[in-house]
Amino acid sequence: MKILVTGGAGFIGGNFCHYLVDKYPDYNIVVLDALTYAGNLETLASIINKNNFRFVKGDITDRKEVFKLFETEKFDIVVNFAAESHVDRSIENPEIFLKTNVIGTQVLMDASKNYKVKRFHQVSTDEVYGDLPLNRPDLLFTETTPLKTSSPYSASKASADLLVNAYYRTFKMPITISRCSNNYGPYQFPEKLIPLMIKNALENKNLPVYGKGENVRDWLHVYDHCTAIDLIIHKGKIGEIYNIGGHNEKTNIDVVKTILKELKKPTSLINYVTDRPGHDLRYAIDASKIENELGWKPKYNFDLGIKQTIKWNIDNQKWLKNIETGEYLRFMEKHYNK
Ligand code: NAD
Ligand code: DAU
Repeated sequence: MKILVTGGAGFIGGNFCHYLVDKYPDYNIVVLDALTYAGNLETLASIINKNNFRFVKGDITDRKEVFKLFETEKFDIVVNFAAESHVDRSIENPEIFLKTNVIGTQVLMDASKNYKVKRFHQVSTDEVYGDLPLNRPDLLFTETTPLKTSSPYSASKASADLLVNAYYRTFKMPITISRCSNNYGPYQFPEKLIPLMIKNALENKNLPVYGKGENVRDWLHVYDHCTAIDLIIHKGKIGEIYNIGGHNEKTNIDVVKTILKELKKPTSLINYVTDRPGHDLRYAIDASKIENELGWKPKYNFDLGIKQTIKWNIDNQKWLKNIETGEYLRFMEKHYNK
């Protein structure tokens, strides 16, 4: 079995590669990643020299190079993680989100169609459903919730989902789509809430909380996202969408306070800042389809997962320091000091 993992040098794609290498030593895994600011080869350091693993630096929007790779490698399965993934960046500069997330997905599907890939899996997000009100805890996103996007990021991901579905209907492409809630865990880039708050707390810097910190996210440990994708690509039904989420709804301020408590840092580090434009209020996933049809069950509860994630960040300061590139510092300076 030969699997292409695009975006494998990023947070979730990187965790997925570690997961695959451990679980399927007889599979051949190829990563295609452009190594943008969010991609980091160090994430793959412990597996990059394995015989059944190959890293290719390349852009999923580069049709010629992508087709060449498919011609050489003859993939059985393609799992598309490659994306621009940060909502705040999409508000600053939407264009690259459309290019990578929509055109890049199209190029990969064209290549998958041409070279008769047996499964094309699109890693999507719960953000395509928009948001839920804060005062209706009974409401959850199901696979049939209408798409209603808020940010250029979520609009680009929803566009890609529509395109993937169109290729299924029109060209009978063997596709599946997963829509997961917020992930956390090892190797997450410190622009996202949890690793940013851990990093700032460790450095005794302010923790910037948007608005009043009342927005709710449904947190899932990245390992549980990996097990869900594993099940979908092997047992999921062609043409189907699967929601993934672990019933760990938390307000942002609760997450931030948990991190401060765990690190024994004062709440005076919390700094309420201007809210994100178009800020989604609440995400919450109904994962009963993947639980009932494929037998998926998350392993982590948030209390355990956050403790391990904080420890990982403390133990991996070198990894964190090495990704603080000029580009990262430029974005953080501009975004938080405006
Ligand atoms: P990330 O930003 O950490 O990693 C993205 C990776 O894609 C990086 O390695 C980057 O170099 C690569 N990449 C970007 N543009 C590329 C291009 N043009 N060609 C090739 N590679 C390119 O993202 P992540 O948080 O790991 O998210 C991975 C996927 O999962 C995304 O599709 C995202 O929409 C989806 N997702 C993320 C979450 C979450 O909480 N982080 C939740 C649900 C779904
Ligand atoms: O739901 C899945 C999505 O989760 C993924 O599709 C995205 O790729 C991923 O980035 C994530 O999107 P969010 O916007 O929810 O994640 P982020 O970590 O940026 O923010 C989480 C919450 O924390 C959100 O309500 C905004 C808030 N926040 C974030 C940052 C970076 C703050 O209050 N302060 C901050 O500095």
